[in-house]
Amino acid sequence: MDLFDLKGRVAVVTGASSGLGADAARAYAAYGADVALLARRKERLDALAGELRGQGVDALPVACDVSDEESIKAAVKEVLDHFGRIDILLNNAGVAVPGGVETLTPEEWDRSMNVNVKGIYLMCKYVVPQMRERKYGKIVNIASINATLADKVPELWRHSYNASKAAVRGLTIGMAASYAADNITVNSIGPGLFESEMTENTLFKHEGFMNMYNGIDPASRPGRRGELNGTIIYFSSEASSYVTGQHVIVDGGFSIV
Ligand SMILES: NC(=O)c1ccc[n+]([C@@H]2O[C@H](COP(=O)([O-])OP(=O)(O)OC[C@H]3O[C@@H](n4cnc5c(N)ncnc54)[C@H](OP(=O)(O)O)[C@@H]3O)[C@@H](O)[C@H]2O)c1
Repeated sequence: MDLFDLKGRVAVVTGASSGLGADAARAYAAYGADVALLARRKERLDALAGELRGQGVDALPVACDVSDEESIKAAVKEVLDHFGRIDILLNNAGVAVPGGVETLTPEEWDRSMNVNVKGIYLMCKYVVPQMRERKYGKIVNIASINATLADKVPELWRHSYNASKAAVRGLTIGMAASYAADNITVNSIGPGLFESEMTENTLFKHEGFMNMYNGIDPASRPGRRGELNGTIIYFSSEASSYVTGQHVIVDGGFSIV
């Protein structure tokens, strides 16, 4: 038995229009899963779906704003109408709103929490019931090393991001304990620095930050494309059937030194 085989599984990826989410969708397809791609930029999802179908799996692009309950309700219905079930949910959509408490507006704070935390709660609200009914589910929540590590330099303060990613961890353990008896695992991942739309024009352009990161990180470099996928596939497959409520940091060792 191949513990990592996902043939016949249906995976939903939020934030699939770019970066880590698009790469995770490619990994799911490579391991045999059919994939529903959710994000706001539909044209990008259409292009990625075409690419994945070329790999021999079914792929469904669905426009969805994860901060909006009606949008999520409609998206989950579309996925269930098309595939009949959801086995894997990768809650990856996220925004890194800059600013500390003194400068953040309440609207910016809400945007952070609405996408990064409420989005996960709402996706789970509509996906979990059919997982419980079928007694099978793998939920993977993308948090960040910034749940427990902060930036000192004022231009890199992101207090609402820190708060939202710490909340993802709490939500993960709460759900994990509640749904383990239904054969649903819920785990989270804390990526270190990876190049994506979120970071390419911010952290990657900040010489001081990059020198600090590479200087501290035992691997002396940011994560490369695809290097998050091993942990995502592990938490999404039978390889982690008795692993729930756990958090794996993928950062080359940045957070241990
Ligand atoms: N890159 C890193 O170094 C790093 C480190 C730690 C954690 N992370 C986390 O990894 C996840 C992916 O980020 P990334 O680095 O791949 O950044 P990214 O390239 O900016 O991707 C973010 C994704 O989230 C989607 N998204 C944002 N707001 C949304 C909304 N309201 N509704 C639906 N989708 C929404 C975006 O799609 P649309 O704009 O098309 O909606 C996009 O697909 C995030 O949760 C991020 O916090 C990243």
